[in-house]
Amino acid sequence: MAVVDQAWSPSSWRGREALQQPEWPDDARLEDVKRRLHALPPLVFAGEARQVQSALGEVAAGRAFLLQAGDCAESFHDYERLTETGAAYAAVSIRERLKILLQMAAVLTYGAALPVLKVGRIAGQFAKPRTSSTEHGPDGDIPVFRGHMIHDDAPTAAARVADPERMIAGYNLSAATLNLVRAFTKGGFADLTQVHAWNQDFVASSQQGKRYEQLASEIERALAFMAACGIDLGATPQLHQVDVWTSHEGLLLDYEEALTRRDSLSGDWYDCSAHMLWVGDRTRELDGAHVEFFSGVHNPIGVKIGPSASPEELVELCARLNPDRIPGRLTVITRLGAERAEDLLPPLLRAVRDAKHQVVWACDPMHANAFLSGGRKTRHFDAIMAELEAFFAACRAERVWPGGVHLEYTGEDVTECLGGSEQVSEEHLDRRYETLCDPRLNARQSLDLAFRLAELMRR
Ligand code: PEP
Ligand code: CO
Repeated sequence: MAVVDQAWSPSSWRGREALQQPEWPDDARLEDVKRRLHALPPLVFAGEARQVQSALGEVAAGRAFLLQAGDCAESFHDYERLTETGAAYAAVSIRERLKILLQMAAVLTYGAALPVLKVGRIAGQFAKPRTSSTEHGPDGDIPVFRGHMIHDDAPTAAARVADPERMIAGYNLSAATLNLVRAFTKGGFADLTQVHAWNQDFVASSQQGKRYEQLASEIERALAFMAACGIDLGATPQLHQVDVWTSHEGLLLDYEEALTRRDSLSGDWYDCSAHMLWVGDRTRELDGAHVEFFSGVHNPIGVKIGPSASPEELVELCARLNPDRIPGRLTVITRLGAERAEDLLPPLLRAVRDAKHQVVWACDPMHANAFLSGGRKTRHFDAIMAELEAFFAACRAERVWPGGVHLEYTGEDVTECLGGSEQVSEEHLDRRYETLCDPRLNARQSLDLAFRLAELMRR
């Protein structure tokens, strides 16, 4: 059904069909929460979103690479726990995730000699789209888990009642997380002279950990060489601070709308819940609420493209989400599966190129490669690599810049994805399977992937 033309506003999505939204049981409480969210300060500043967009413009032009990575679903529980030594678990978890991101970025930057734009799935990744609306619990079928911004993950019907108050909690935890990310990345932790310190103990002893140590030593030698040549490293801020930007799927439109503010400098609307937001594969219908909402905010936007998207649909999405064809505004994140990417990707690449849309092409090699093993959802490292290889090959054949990757990983030594140099096998899955939603690469698998990716980029 065609929708009548109307001017965009932060609430104009309400005139469209919004898929994957929770059923809030109480309208009055929802309205109260929306009003309170609206009164809270923005989490990010519009000028930062513009900086990310211009950095993505460099990616679109083939002069940089996007590393977008983080948890599948962040967990409220992380903020309620202590570690074995009595430290705040969330602080450790954020630090460890940052270390891996910095390690992966160092491997890619050094390996491919290209600037790497670092965007976390962090500080707001609390809402999940789901394929099925119910799941099996011990006492029968219950509403499927949709993320902690909506309800609790306990497998009971009572826990799965949507509670809008959780959007306020999600906002607060996002603020706390973003604050620590900013502190770590600007306060010395991300200093390139710390390049060895990012290697965690349980990673350092592994094959990829040792390879990383070697690379870190080479970086140190390069820095020492520059210092010996008389370059004042202390006066070079790029060596001492990095930008790690935030992103999440812009799924929960009540929340995103409430965080959308008009920038006082440009007069434009920005969704100030994160620097970059993406529309998921399940909510990208052309006339749907998500495309309507994100067509009007000025943040850099991603859109996930699964096997069901046609080239014509993708070109139309580009037109709706980036009518002014601003390089860096739109990132197309393909997730087609290791087996199908080779066939499905070239027509998509050609259609967008021939329509003269300049987008960032990124590959999510995770989401179309899941399968069940003994009731656990998992992914094989080899399938993840195979989709990445198919992505690079197709981009090169079509003379399109393979601009980035989109990954799910954790800093912990979990056993959720199979394979990698330190083989995780099917019988290991039960050992540490902790994800709330999709299986994530563990720290070693992430580093392993970064080295292989750097090789692909160099080729
Ligand atoms: C995700 O990124 O966690 C996700 C659900 O992705 P997709 O929309 O690609 O399925
Ligand atoms: Co996921």
